Amino acid sequence: MKKFLALILTLAMALSVTACGGSDDTADDTADGEGAGTEETVDYSAMSDDELKAAITTITEGTLKVATSPDFAPYEFYAIDESGNAQLAGFEMSLAQYIADYLGLTLEITPMDFDGTLMELQSKTVDLGMAGYSPDPDRESIMDFSDIFYEGGQSFVTTQDKADLFTSLEDTNNPDYSIGAQNGSIQADLANTNSPDSDVVLLPKVTDIVTDLLAGNLDGAYIETVVAESYAANYPDLAVVLEVPYDQAGSVVGVSKGNAALLEGVNRAIAAAKEDGSMDQFVAEANEQASGDIIEGLVDGGETSAEG
Ligand code: ARG
Repeated sequence: MKKFLALILTLAMALSVTACGGSDDTADDTADGEGAGTEETVDYSAMSDDELKAAITTITEGTLKVATSPDFAPYEFYAIDESGNAQLAGFEMSLAQYIADYLGLTLEITPMDFDGTLMELQSKTVDLGMAGYSPDPDRESIMDFSDIFYEGGQSFVTTQDKADLFTSLEDTNNPDYSIGAQNGSIQADLANTNSPDSDVVLLPKVTDIVTDLLAGNLDGAYIETVVAESYAANYPDLAVVLEVPYDQAGSVVGVSKGNAALLEGVNRAIAAAKEDGSMDQFVAEANEQASGDIIEGLVDGGETSAEG
């Protein structure tokens, strides 16, 4: 909104300058800023897939760089494979591979904390952020949103012993309670909006929130419903007690701002993954992998953690 106002002000100033000049020379519109008028509008939607692929540019040619935050089963998480190694898994990771294949690019995924994915996208050090993004209007200045690839909702989560304390959202707003949410997420906004009088605790990872809930350090937390249910299936002490209203339903891929060709390519890949049944299959696989004892829910993947 501020950006928009600033733009209007700039335009107004440009207009008044023109008016004062009183000149009939309309050709010289390059004086007051680069960019204006030089932007070509290529219609990527009219291109064939092959034309589009040839038109797509990424940071490193031939590679699709993706930032993710693998603390978010069944979207993205670490699963333990047969040999005991932590592997990136989840339906959004399968979608990432699908998109890369669709566009003929080599996938390169970098795991990091959620707020880090937003910063990487903003600084354009990755082509995509795939971290269960909600299309939050506050993010529109730092990324472009793909079409929605998955529909989800929001929940308030606590532990079984406290489930009776929370019968409505008003119950969550209490100075006696510590309420968790992930740093940089829309759940942080939900916590501040619905539980402003509580001690709102922002943590870097959803898995930290789950750990703190189970340890009794938090009384409740805001977590996306499908994610909350996934962790609750593995940790039955968790109780998903309230549905939380939120306007921007669904999850999108974050595309490097202004890369219109890549955005079109990502949207075509998403449409194809929905159309050919892949998306449903990715979700089913991820749900299966996130339940049962192969999940590595609460611990960071060994080799990717920064401590070493
Ligand atoms: N949907 C929420 C948001 O966009 C939370 C996403 C958290 N993602 C994650 N991989 N931890 O803010």
